Amino acid sequence: MIIAIANQKGGVGKTTTAINLAAGFALRKRRTLLIDLDPQANSSMSYLDATAVDRSMYDVFIDSTVRIGDVIRPSKHPNLFVAPSRIALAKLEARLVGELDSHFKLKDRLAEVANDFEVVVIDCPPALGLLTVNALVASTHLLIPIQSSYFALEGTDDLLETIEKVRSRANPTLKILGVVITMHDKRTSLARDIRDQIDKVFGKKVFRTVITKSVRLEESPAYKESIFQFAPDSTGATEYYRLCEEVMDRV
Ligand SMILES: Nc1ncnc2c1ncn2[C@@H]1O[C@H](COP(=O)(O)OP(=O)(O)OP(=O)(O)O)[C@@H](O)[C@H]1O
Ligand SMILES: [Mg+2]
Repeated sequence: MIIAIANQKGGVGKTTTAINLAAGFALRKRRTLLIDLDPQANSSMSYLDATAVDRSMYDVFIDSTVRIGDVIRPSKHPNLFVAPSRIALAKLEARLVGELDSHFKLKDRLAEVANDFEVVVIDCPPALGLLTVNALVASTHLLIPIQSSYFALEGTDDLLETIEKVRSRANPTLKILGVVITMHDKRTSLARDIRDQIDKVFGKKVFRTVITKSVRLEESPAYKESIFQFAPDSTGATEYYRLCEEVMDRV
């Protein structure tokens, strides 16, 4: 099971969802690999020290002698491993321009470790460029976080169009696992309206579990911990635990 967490909108909860979902699988004793494809490296830094990262996914993409196994690092949590990013990934598009297999790089390289992990979670950057397309080509499933905000659905047409393009040739079996609403504020009527709008567009694809706004979820990465270690009794922990169960029921 390879799950891409993607939405080209920035700051919608991709990284928060990727790090906590990966941690949820690891807690259930699934050997889990979290791949960071965002040059901002937020999910890498949520579990690794910058000093522990000498090589990154950038090297895997541009240097065929670097194995993906060479860049994977264990986190301090059992069963949770990280393939980190570095800011250099921002240069990737320019480096791979003209290479015929540029969309298939991640898929090909992931095959090397296919038997080492039960679950792979890919944190995508806020763009529909080469990195996100590589993630969609390599994945079995796509999970889309949508922020509960007035502009929630802006840009989803472009995302769906990209998914269709990827499905038409490169990865016909890619499934939309679901849409998770993030940073929801139950108290406001705007949030309820937004929920209705998202339900109208995505119907049954919307997960029953909604992630509410929570300071704990913002804080945990600073301590290199998932929400389950940092604040196990918080609403964030309960919600991401439930989301993990829903994901496992759907695959
Ligand atoms: N449920 C939540 N409650 C409160 N804050 C949240 C929640 N989810 C995410 N955040 C915070 O919102 C900000 C954006 O979240 P996150 O980094 O997960 O989004 P992203 O989609 O990965 O962003 P980018 O597009 O820049 O990669 C972060 O500061 C994060 O800590
Ligand atoms: Mg992010």
